Amino acid sequence: MNKNSLLTMKDLTNQEILDLLNDAKAFHNSHSDWQIPEPFRALTANLFFEPSTRTHYSFLSAENQLGLRSVDFQAESSSLTKGESLYDTVKTFEAIGYGLLIIRHPEDEYFKELESINIPIINAGDGTGNHPSQCLLDLMTIYDEFGHLDGLHILICGDVAHSRVAASNKEALERFGAKVRFSGPPQWQREGYPFTDFDENIEWADVVMLLRIQRERGAELGEMSDAEYLEKYGLTKERYARLKDHAIVLHPAPVNRGVEIDSDLVEADKSRIFQQMSNGVLVRKAMIKYALGFPPFGRSNV
Ligand code: CP
Repeated sequence: MNKNSLLTMKDLTNQEILDLLNDAKAFHNSHSDWQIPEPFRALTANLFFEPSTRTHYSFLSAENQLGLRSVDFQAESSSLTKGESLYDTVKTFEAIGYGLLIIRHPEDEYFKELESINIPIINAGDGTGNHPSQCLLDLMTIYDEFGHLDGLHILICGDVAHSRVAASNKEALERFGAKVRFSGPPQWQREGYPFTDFDENIEWADVVMLLRIQRERGAELGEMSDAEYLEKYGLTKERYARLKDHAIVLHPAPVNRGVEIDSDLVEADKSRIFQQMSNGVLVRKAMIKYALGFPPFGRSNV
């Protein structure tokens, strides 16, 4: 595997995470026009084997802003339909001149079968495993708000069992000294994730991160209606009113309005859901810069 591949948060030291956040901030401030120098502009392919709006199109935006030429892989018109494997598909992109791959795939840790690939790969989400670019944009959004992660109380609510967002955030936030608790339906608990009651912790939280119900991974509400789910496990107006003054609300999106969160709260004062998306372009620019081997801009801005 290329040493600059970004597959999980575990691949990054704390300093590297801070450097990426700092670079993302610099892309917003001092380095908004910075581009990959011409001789290093790798031909980039986006291989999305699962649907995506935010991750896919913000990587495209980031590639475009950095001056890269990129293509979107179309699985349905590719030789996957003739039985070609993921490994052979990726190896082909390497063989025909691509220098950077962005991959989303439904299989947990799909990248383990790509260890002999030499070009950098950025993981845009693997099954229930990891979502490093989402995690970095979440960290950036929290940092922007509080200026630190250490000691913050983070309450992550919903379909924890199927969420790669929960997994990557737990890993990174705990490393930076945040206290992370989880809540949601009992059938979506996950081993090693400290579960608690939403209502008992709403006033404890500095950050409430809601998770989408991952129906495509088998999550089912059973007899429960969407309205009942919202009432029991979602962010209602009543719960919102009990949040700390300085608390913020995150959701990786797409949002099931009226299920994980009352539709009227999606753009409420404490919601940073669309800010997360804007930050997503900045952290993805920083990840691409890192993957192509460029050093951090500096360490003063985070
Ligand atoms: N948050 C996220 O990964 O959204 P998409 O599935 O739309 O990329």
